[in-house]
Amino acid sequence: MEKITKELLKWYQENKRDLPWRHTKNPYFIWISEIMLQQTRVETVKEYYTRFIKKLPTLKDLAEIEEDNLLKLWEGLGYYSRVRNMQKAAKKIVEMGKDNLPSTKEELVALPGIGDYTAGAILSIAFDKPAIAIDGNVYRVLGRYYKIEDSISKPKTYRVYENIVKQILPSKNTGDFTQSFMDLGSIICTPKSPKCLHCPLRKECLCYRSNTQELYPKKDKAKEQIVEERIVFLYVYKEKVAIQKRENKGLLASMYEFPNTLELKNQIDIENDLLEKKIPYVSVLEIGTSKHIFSHKIWYMTGFLVELEKPLKNFLWITKKELQKKYSIPSAFSYFSDFYQNR
Ligand code: ADE
Repeated sequence: MEKITKELLKWYQENKRDLPWRHTKNPYFIWISEIMLQQTRVETVKEYYTRFIKKLPTLKDLAEIEEDNLLKLWEGLGYYSRVRNMQKAAKKIVEMGKDNLPSTKEELVALPGIGDYTAGAILSIAFDKPAIAIDGNVYRVLGRYYKIEDSISKPKTYRVYENIVKQILPSKNTGDFTQSFMDLGSIICTPKSPKCLHCPLRKECLCYRSNTQELYPKKDKAKEQIVEERIVFLYVYKEKVAIQKRENKGLLASMYEFPNTLELKNQIDIENDLLEKKIPYVSVLEIGTSKHIFSHKIWYMTGFLVELEKPLKNFLWITKKELQKKYSIPSAFSYFSDFYQNR
């Protein structure tokens, strides 16, 4: 066994984090945890994961749950297309007469939403097959250990790392091996200020030896974020608030949202618009601002509570209870959902 492999496995045995999905080998559970972990921090996932598997303990349950209820379970995690794909995959598996995920890479990557990373995680963690999930932690640990010059922003660099992984992969305990990178990468080999003095790999680590840890793994300069300023409307009529469905492509595709616009308006503009359109209203109130960071976009939002005398057409009018239990509004709008709930 390679030295790095031995050190990683030993370190993992002694230092691994006790996480809910590490008490199971059920491929369905491992899959859920991995998809959630692609979106959010471990601490947040713990709660979502536990709730999800309690509500949907089998893959068949996932295949059968109504979409709005499924999205509700995912609310706050973002990237809803991922959970929609999970349901599509679950339906496909059930249609094939199976009750859990397949155990080969070919079959796994043929399912919606499962790529090399997720397949590698499931194969190694649930089935102990010779595979590994290459994520940012693997890039950091190996990029530094071997001082790899290829930029991880280039898709073909994946193959460079994959080849190295193949050479150091143990013949068993590949699930531990995969997860050792995740833990070392989160606890010790962190992006900023890595704790090299506690690292089991430091003696051989080329970056540690040249004190260049923070320059690796190599990446290209990040693309600039698009900044958008939006006005968000909480249109209220009696005990109901207006929501609408976003279009079925692009950012937050097919999700519900509060009506919003890129046209910047202040309270006077909004009142003038309402008067001009002959929409009777009771009051217009500015209710605060909120910021949401997507992967390539930032929204700066200003909210207005507009109390109407009649409901406007073309919106879906829902109660507080429905907002809480039935409809899932993306976390980009959390500030405004909370505002309405607590009103
Ligand atoms: N990040 C992604 N997968 C993980 C896992 N199985 N354990 C801890 N962190 C992770």
